[in-house]
Amino acid sequence: MLKKNWFSILLFALFPVCLFGQNHENAAVISVDAAHPGAAISQSMFGIFFEDINFGADGGLYPELVKNRSFEFQEPLTGWKEVMGFSSKGIAFPKGELDVRTQDPLNQTNPHYVRARVYDPGYGFWNGGFRGMGVESGAEYRFSAYVRSGGPKTMRAVITDGNGRELGSGKLEGFGADWKRYETVIRTNVTEPHAKLTLFIDEKGYLDLDMVSLFPVDTWKHRENGLRKDLVQLLYDLHPGFLRFPGGCIVEGRTLVNRYRWKNTVGDIAQRKTIINRWNLEFDQRPAPDYFQSFGLGFYEYFQLAEDIGARPLPILNCGMACQFNSSETAALNELDEYVHDALDLIEFANGPVTSPWGKLRAQMGHPAPFHLEMIGVGNEQWGPRYVDRYKVFAAALKAQHPEINLVVAAGPSPSGELFDSAWNNWRQLKANIVDEHYYMSPEWFLENTSRYDQYDRSGPKVFAGEYAAQSVATTSADNRNNWKTAISEAAFMTGLERNGDVVQMASYAPLLAHVDAWQWKPDAIWFDNLYSYGTTDYYVQKVFANNAGTRIVPVTPHADGGLYTSASLDERTHELIVKAVNYSPTVRLAEIRLNGANPSGMAKVTTLECADLKAENSFEHPMAVTPVGSILDVKSRVIPVRLGAYSVTVYRIPVH
Ligand code: AHR
Repeated sequence: MLKKNWFSILLFALFPVCLFGQNHENAAVISVDAAHPGAAISQSMFGIFFEDINFGADGGLYPELVKNRSFEFQEPLTGWKEVMGFSSKGIAFPKGELDVRTQDPLNQTNPHYVRARVYDPGYGFWNGGFRGMGVESGAEYRFSAYVRSGGPKTMRAVITDGNGRELGSGKLEGFGADWKRYETVIRTNVTEPHAKLTLFIDEKGYLDLDMVSLFPVDTWKHRENGLRKDLVQLLYDLHPGFLRFPGGCIVEGRTLVNRYRWKNTVGDIAQRKTIINRWNLEFDQRPAPDYFQSFGLGFYEYFQLAEDIGARPLPILNCGMACQFNSSETAALNELDEYVHDALDLIEFANGPVTSPWGKLRAQMGHPAPFHLEMIGVGNEQWGPRYVDRYKVFAAALKAQHPEINLVVAAGPSPSGELFDSAWNNWRQLKANIVDEHYYMSPEWFLENTSRYDQYDRSGPKVFAGEYAAQSVATTSADNRNNWKTAISEAAFMTGLERNGDVVQMASYAPLLAHVDAWQWKPDAIWFDNLYSYGTTDYYVQKVFANNAGTRIVPVTPHADGGLYTSASLDERTHELIVKAVNYSPTVRLAEIRLNGANPSGMAKVTTLECADLKAENSFEHPMAVTPVGSILDVKSRVIPVRLGAYSVTVYRIPVH
């Protein structure tokens, strides 16, 4: 029988009464040996991986509403269309003409602009945003443009819904014959996910336009070139240990020409050079020919984001290799100077004094204090001897000048096999700091690999589980789902990461973000549309682990037994023992947590993620279908009876002395 003192403040609503009176003689015993705490757990253990895939940056985290604001897409009028008027005979015609030009541009890195020639006053043209523009009732949007005039002195900006109903408007005026930036704020009076922006010119002549922007005023921390609030909030709530950016294969590019170059992403946004996004036409089943990178979200903003959400920055840099799944183009060893200098200069940009050239730019952009960069990834998902050769060049230069910076290296695209093994052999020999492993595998693989790191060499390089996600169907399948099965299998696996926190230093689910109308890759942690967002089941597993990471490993048994997966840690800051238990079984399991070497005192905080249906998913309609539920458990002795729900993840934070 249940002892009376088992749960004094128990949320009965959560735990059905039918459980009380169950015989617990067969209860699983979870033995936690707090008398022998192990190694320290890295304080950046559970972090996030950001890549501009699935419209994660432009059209997502970076809330610019105008697509192709600088007319630099391959087809320079992508996203823009003229408003048609009608002749007396009913023939449709525009009242002017859009002419893309490069003479006397705004600047050399942004050479194209549009000349809007007005033949009949009232000439209009519009931009439909990234699959529409999301605007909210009562919200303000900063409309701005660089303008040079050949006559007209004003331009009207009208935000409408798909039927042409006006939702808000504003006017720019006072144009002169030289390029100058003008802005006004427009308030919208209706919430609309698929609005568009139409510009009207009411005088004959022409206007040259560039960097035409409609940007929410209410961004994260109210920054002018800020980030989308709801999405940053979801990231902030994770309390991530680190932020890996900017990817992913986007670092590599399909060819070296479109690799990620951080120097093109800092400074004045009007000077940042737009390039194609490598996910543009990657998948035949999900082509996105209008996917480019404006770099409005660039390296400064990434560092700032990391700081805002309390995460250590982890930039990944191109090592002279384009994606090995695409062109595999490789810079010759004697051509690596530029790449290596990019890495050295990045350290200066992040950490250097404001008197240094790159530190000065950081200060001019608004952040004189250093960003405390401690690690850099050399290459993304590379493999093979060419990679090792290039790493050696980087390591020689970086270690000579910045021994304080840890280097992250890749173990290729898969979690095992020849490429993986040979990568690890090399990294051991070269005494690499941290090795980035990727696994986009089945849920079963995650369940079977919870002991993966138990036998890893404790004296070799550390591990970064840099990209992982359980694939419900198959890697890159468009039918993949984010469901409770994928999430709970990741949770089981993560107990293995945590138990091996002396070897596994960092881990991040990937990819992070996906626009519901513009994605290329599934599954993803967070889904969003033009207005709303939600965390998937997988997101909440990440959250539960990241919010409950301890500081020191505590031995626990069993850790993988008949569908029960466990880990334990000590939080030396709060004097709590943290026990995580994943019950991957369709039935409720009664268990006892038995503590050795620690005296519990008082109320334990319990967080439960639970759903009997492995197919359950969160969605826009039901964003909280599977989300963590908190409760309190009065712990009176070293033997703590607990109830693990069917298919559940439970975290106990037990105060100890
Ligand atoms: O996360 C999606 C992609 O998967 C990443 O860009 C790449 O590193 C991996 O292949």
